[in-house]
Amino acid sequence: MHLLNSLTLLQVLLASTATAITLSPLRTIHQFPNPTFLENIVTTRNGTLLTGILGSSSNGGALHLIDPFAAPSNASTLLYTFPDANSVLGISELEPDIYAVATGTYNVSTGPTQGSSTIWVLDLNSLCAEGTPTVRKVADLKNALSLNGIAVLNKDTFLAADSFGGTIISVDVQSGAYEVVHNDVTLAPNMSAALPIGVDGMKYVAPNLYYTNTQIGLFRVRVDPTTGAATSPYVKLASVESPDEIAVLEDGTIFMARPLEGVVERVGQDGKRTVIANKDIEGVTAVTLGRTWRDRNVFYASTFGGFAEDGAGFREGGKVVAFEIREPILATVNVYEECIGTALSRDDGLLLPCLDFSILPPSSSLENLH
Ligand SMILES: *[C@@H]1O[C@H](CO)[C@@H](O)[C@H](O)[C@H]1NC(C)=O
Ligand SMILES: *[C@@H]1O[C@H](CO)[C@@H](O)[C@H](O)[C@H]1NC(C)=O
Ligand SMILES: *[C@@H]1O[C@H](CO)[C@@H](O)[C@H](O)[C@H]1NC(C)=O
Ligand SMILES: *[C@@H]1O[C@H](CO)[C@@H](O)[C@H](O)[C@H]1NC(C)=O
Repeated sequence: MHLLNSLTLLQVLLASTATAITLSPLRTIHQFPNPTFLENIVTTRNGTLLTGILGSSSNGGALHLIDPFAAPSNASTLLYTFPDANSVLGISELEPDIYAVATGTYNVSTGPTQGSSTIWVLDLNSLCAEGTPTVRKVADLKNALSLNGIAVLNKDTFLAADSFGGTIISVDVQSGAYEVVHNDVTLAPNMSAALPIGVDGMKYVAPNLYYTNTQIGLFRVRVDPTTGAATSPYVKLASVESPDEIAVLEDGTIFMARPLEGVVERVGQDGKRTVIANKDIEGVTAVTLGRTWRDRNVFYASTFGGFAEDGAGFREGGKVVAFEIREPILATVNVYEECIGTALSRDDGLLLPCLDFSILPPSSSLENLH
């Protein structure tokens, strides 16, 4: 608690002195063959990245685990293949190293196969000992048209966006029970648009649910922390064309991927938009932040490679890229606290086998925190 408070204070101090943004060049962490449509990206506790493939021509929904600190290699990054699907859509952390994952069957040209959506719980804690994650099916969402982003409310409940259905569905992790909890006009797809995708990316940062609608923009609604139901009107934060997945800081600052424009934008609580990455990032579908000391100001993004100019196929294979922002944001205070706490309080040698202690801050910065 003491450490957490110190870090939160540090975060406030740094944030208040932050000024202009300096962008670093884009770094390719891993590129897949063309075509590979990466749909989403999340950071795990020790800094590795999970990304999933949409609309694969082979069987199975492929989930990949990529280490951004490792030297470039051609080793396979495939972590798990979900059955009865060809796409991994939303991925979001429920509990330490336990993720809710949405899969389905989707064709990038013709859209989703209705009734193909499934929700899973993927547990990475077994990975070190057994070499494979533990996976459990939570529910088949037969009535959903096409799932997309997932926002976790708490370890037992999460919300899933139904992009073509124009609704948000709450799912009980234990029982698999689910129900539509949002059915607002701001979630609806525009059926006259080329790609009728409504509600798309989502994040929950209490007390608000943030979401994009691919046709009309970025929104926020206050929700009940247990049921996820709206407790305030739906607020439009920005009118934006083709926003996709978002990352949201505790203070409500949003980072938004815009695939067709090939940019990542920051959106302040006042709705002010700033482009924070715009070089060679065509087809950027999602953005996430580093969670370790080593990559505390690094953004990671997934791409589908951008559409080819002739309209058929893609410019390149989807990739995972990184860029830095020279403005402290320290998005991951809880994780630092956990890593530092583990290192300081346990001297019995029974430390988590997967924990990479090189992610700890240098001892000088540790001292500064006390
Ligand atoms: C998607 O649909 C098109 C048109 O029906 C088809 O040619 C293509 O093979 C499909 N792609 C996949 C990955 O199934
Ligand atoms: C990966 O494979 C490509 C193509 O075969 C090759 O050019 C490259 O050197 C390889 N990279 C590494 C790190 O092995
Ligand atoms: C829906 O999309 C069509 C075609 O792009 C556009 O003309 C129309 O204004 C859109 N409707 C709304 C409500 O945004
Ligand atoms: C990080 O966690 C992943 C997933 O649990 C694991 O596969 C990987 O080995 C870990 N990396 C390190 C450096 O411990």
